[in-house]
Amino acid sequence: MPYECDVITLFPEMFNAITQYGVTGKANKNGIFRLNLWNPRDFSENSYRAVDDSPYGGGPGMVMMAKPLETAIMNARDRQRTLGIDKTEVVYLTPQGQRFNHRMAERLSQSQGVILLCGRYEGIDERVITRQVDAEISIGDYVVSGGELAAMVVIDSVVRLIPGTLGDPESAEQESFVNGLLDYPHYTRPEQYCDSRVPEVLLSGNHAQIRRWRLQQALGKTWLKRPDLLELKEMQGMTEEETMLLDAFKRSCKG
Ligand SMILES: C[S@@+](CC[C@H](N)C(=O)[O-])C[C@H]1O[C@@H](n2cnc3c(N)ncnc32)[C@H](O)[C@@H]1O
Repeated sequence: MPYECDVITLFPEMFNAITQYGVTGKANKNGIFRLNLWNPRDFSENSYRAVDDSPYGGGPGMVMMAKPLETAIMNARDRQRTLGIDKTEVVYLTPQGQRFNHRMAERLSQSQGVILLCGRYEGIDERVITRQVDAEISIGDYVVSGGELAAMVVIDSVVRLIPGTLGDPESAEQESFVNGLLDYPHYTRPEQYCDSRVPEVLLSGNHAQIRRWRLQQALGKTWLKRPDLLELKEMQGMTEEETMLLDAFKRSCKG
């Protein structure tokens, strides 16, 4: 059964970006996830199909009205229910949400589906959040013009984790953040590029040594670029091998 993803958006065409291209495009064609798009304008009670109005209390911009959004959410919930999915999480994409990360993608990928709510303008009527939303997700501490790009980031990262999406399941297992570390460096042909050569160990054919080198590089890169992640990994407990490899990496940097 495909992962059922319902999205409430004023700009459904934007989602062609994930259904028609690359890894997610292929996963969509192969039935790994299904995308259902709901436009709140279709549920507007206004003859101009308006879905926004000016904010109470004054101030700039417009606010998305509650009723068309709630009706769209109800329709999405009903659709998921008819498929036997009872507890679909409704997620609002908002800069005020919890910052999105690998663990959240993992959690979502383990459910049967999700309903994503994309805001526009100044945002949505607060009552939709209190009445309908289970979780709020942000893609980072900055503001973009609408929730669509954020929803696509979430869908892409979730779909990558669903078995069958990536040709080689090991790809997903080795990526950054999966084991609390950044990914190791990658190289491809030619062996010599300008003044730079592929590290000898990768040409050696010695798989044990390659594994150790990659683990050491992942630890070292994380130490250099994301000390916050490494601190977390250290708190959760590193293996003896990891500690030894990291110490050697640190020494090689000093030397
Ligand atoms: C211009 S923004 C509104 C920002 C809102 N007035 C605020 O300052 O919190 C319009 C919509 O874009 C989406 N959005 C903007 N930044 C986002 C972020 N960092 N993460 C997720 N969604 C975002 C939300 O759906 C939001 O309702």
